[in-house]
Amino acid sequence: MEPIKILVTNQKGGVGKSTISANLAAYLCLQQGVKVSLIDFDKQGSSSRWAHKAPNIGIQVHQAELSFQSSGMTLLSARNALRKGSIGSDVSISDLTWMPSISEDFMMDFDLILVPTSTSKFELASTEIFVLQYALKHFAKFPISRQLILVVPSRVEREYSSANMPTNLSCLDHCLITPPVIRTDHIDQYVYEDFFCVSNDKIVSDYFCQFGEFIADKVKIKTEEKKTPVSKLISNLSIATKKLSILDHFRIGRKQGIHSVDQPIPQYLFKGDVKH
Ligand SMILES: Nc1ncnc2c1ncn2[C@@H]1O[C@H](COP(=O)(O)OP(=O)(O)OP(=O)(O)O)[C@@H](O)[C@H]1O
Ligand SMILES: [Mg+2]
Repeated sequence: MEPIKILVTNQKGGVGKSTISANLAAYLCLQQGVKVSLIDFDKQGSSSRWAHKAPNIGIQVHQAELSFQSSGMTLLSARNALRKGSIGSDVSISDLTWMPSISEDFMMDFDLILVPTSTSKFELASTEIFVLQYALKHFAKFPISRQLILVVPSRVEREYSSANMPTNLSCLDHCLITPPVIRTDHIDQYVYEDFFCVSNDKIVSDYFCQFGEFIADKVKIKTEEKKTPVSKLISNLSIATKKLSILDHFRIGRKQGIHSVDQPIPQYLFKGDVKH
């Protein structure tokens, strides 16, 4: 079956993309027994170096090269790297700093988009704009999309780790906030050496495993969804279209005085398995 593709991205630098990519790869590999590939799109190669240098736990590591000759070439080279890097894995994780020169079409190729962000007001506001701008384009293009956008509170101080992060993203059906990745003291003891999910510091491992479990659960949901035949999706879409057309007729009927304004919209339109 086609692998589940996860993108870890934000246009902001230094938000924890590479740290989360490398450690999530390790969590899925070690704690969930999943075949994982890590595709590092960033020139610094932070996450790929981490996974290379730390004890070999079987993560397939790929360094991707993007071509910036033209926007078409950038998209083509990104898609090529994603396809090649995902071969043979159950889950691929792509670490990428978002740049406007990359077409949003590339983001649409993923099942899950993880957007790490600090909880500071400035950074959160810029993350909200980033997510909203993308979501508007994505869901306009694919109204029955199954893609999930997961905002990851990153480097959160332990004392604030249980606090809810208020965002302006709750209007989006397909956007959730994950459990936080807490700020780890002595981070350099981990970088290139070890992984959070198996840390001797129980707080570090417990928090990261909680985050990892949340993602693993979404991966399972996406895996099940991929097994749903396309014909079922098309039939859902045609039911939705039919209901909308009945609704349109009803509205026209009201305008023309065929139905009275007080007559309620038929309830059967809102029943069944199709969400409006
Ligand atoms: N949970 C954490 N606890 C402590 N320090 C962290 C944590 N996550 C990341 N850092 C540190 O924050 C800095 C930025 O992290 P990282 O390189 O993962 O971010 P990034 O978004 O990939 O950055 P870039 O945009 O440069 O690729 C690094 O110095 C990293 O060691
Ligand atoms: Mg990075």
